Amino acid sequence: MFTELPAWRQAAADFKQDRKTTLREAFQADPGRAKAMSVEAAGLFLDFSKNLVSKKTMEDLFAVARACGLKEQIQAMFAGERINATENRPVLHTALRNRANTPVFVDGKDVMPEVNRVLKRMAAFSRKVRSGSWKGHTGKPIRNIVNIGIGGSDLGPAMAYQALKPFSDRKLRFAFVSNVDATHFAEETFGMDPEETLFIVASKTFTTLETMLNARTARAWLLKKLKSPKAVARHFVAVSTNAEEVAKFGIDTANMFGFWDWVGGRYSLPSAIGLPLMLAIGPARFGELLDGYHAMDRHFAEAPFERNMPVILAMLGIAYNNLAGAQSHAVLPYDQYLARFPAYLQQLDMESNGKGVDRQGRRVAYETGPVIWGEPGTNGQHAFYQLIHQGTKLIPADFIGFCKSHNPLGGHHDGLMANFFAQTEALAFGRTAEEVRAEGVPEALVPHKTFTGDRPTNTILAEKLTPAILGALVALYEHKVFVQGVVWNVYSFDQWGVQLGKALAAGIAPELTAEAKPRLAHDASTNALVRRYRKVNGRA
Ligand code: F6P
Repeated sequence: MFTELPAWRQAAADFKQDRKTTLREAFQADPGRAKAMSVEAAGLFLDFSKNLVSKKTMEDLFAVARACGLKEQIQAMFAGERINATENRPVLHTALRNRANTPVFVDGKDVMPEVNRVLKRMAAFSRKVRSGSWKGHTGKPIRNIVNIGIGGSDLGPAMAYQALKPFSDRKLRFAFVSNVDATHFAEETFGMDPEETLFIVASKTFTTLETMLNARTARAWLLKKLKSPKAVARHFVAVSTNAEEVAKFGIDTANMFGFWDWVGGRYSLPSAIGLPLMLAIGPARFGELLDGYHAMDRHFAEAPFERNMPVILAMLGIAYNNLAGAQSHAVLPYDQYLARFPAYLQQLDMESNGKGVDRQGRRVAYETGPVIWGEPGTNGQHAFYQLIHQGTKLIPADFIGFCKSHNPLGGHHDGLMANFFAQTEALAFGRTAEEVRAEGVPEALVPHKTFTGDRPTNTILAEKLTPAILGALVALYEHKVFVQGVVWNVYSFDQWGVQLGKALAAGIAPELTAEAKPRLAHDASTNALVRRYRKVNGRA
């Protein structure tokens, strides 16, 4: 257990000591602090100096990482060892963007030729659709592309499509349907012409209830207009690891883009799951995205922990989580294109490290993954920042911003970035009662207008949001999550916690629709809720 390591005890003691010093004092005492506590990698600049830690505590935390065998576990992941032990699988999303093309072996077989083959097929298909040479059943080119998938088969491409919109072909309209609520399908496809619409059914397992139901609805929607079942071949492609289920659904496996069980759903954006993104931005730009991922992968694998961006972010998060009682972590992108980035990170982080037992199956005696949340700035400033500035909870936050905008209109970008820099300054250094008084504020209001400061933030700054930068950013967080999973000694690549609800829903579904009054054997609350629903819908 990491909490029993001498290095951890040292970190705890030093961190406690650090917290007696304010950030104002820390910066005053060390003019080189900002420089010393900044790193650059893969086009990203990270300033972590506005954290409540000394350089000494950082060293302790790196020692904890070393004592947990982080170096060896990073190597094991990149080498394709079966580190996803509860599913007996390797974890090789890094192979998907292995631009060096060095061999990566799974059971003695190099996976790179297959990875490259699928990328080539995706590129060929994308070119056809983008050029209009891929025709729908009635001979019209495709104008609408609808991705049907959920979780990792939705959040990655949906987030990245939005992030990289300035690079996308604006003649194509993209939609992402995930929710089993039919409203999602109905609204996203509203006004689309089936003759010009291509559906990508994306599901690693091809058994996910929501996705299969949406896919069947999509097929019915298509056939209502196009009549012939032959139309399906021109309007449906699949992305999956499960060729058998794809064929059963009625999609020709010639129209299937595969990936492998060693790619976790929430890590699958650089696999064929990224097909909608490639269709939007084209194969070359998609290649740049992979380049960015790869650059961060190499940095993670090679940089010493002291300069290693994912390791730094991970260990800071662990300090707040396990030594300061922080329950959540905010991600605040100052870029409207990254509006879905927090939602994407929620799955990445919370499905990975939201675990309550360790790798030995014992209930953990310490906190694991935090609640991840966030909204783009500056919107969040006018909503929930009050609590971050003056509330009683410690909320470490990542601020993500860019020096250049894709939309340099008027003074918007400078205005945006002024807020970006101001917020971390305000959070770190606050405003003392003396300063407030000096402004002539009446005494009764002084406590209300005082800011304690010492609210920790990381600043991640890049030149411009490009495909490569997005790849680097996603890889940064993937590896941060990996490091934390290693220290917390949890399995970050399974997600058994999602199963119970699915199993219960499968049992409840027929109870909602049965003609005859079903015998309900749930608890009193669930039974009553099911009865109420049936009654409102005119069922016995
Ligand atoms: O229920 C959770 C989950 O299994 C995620 O891990 C996954 O990303 C999502 O469902 C979708 O799964 P699939 O791609 O197999 O449809």
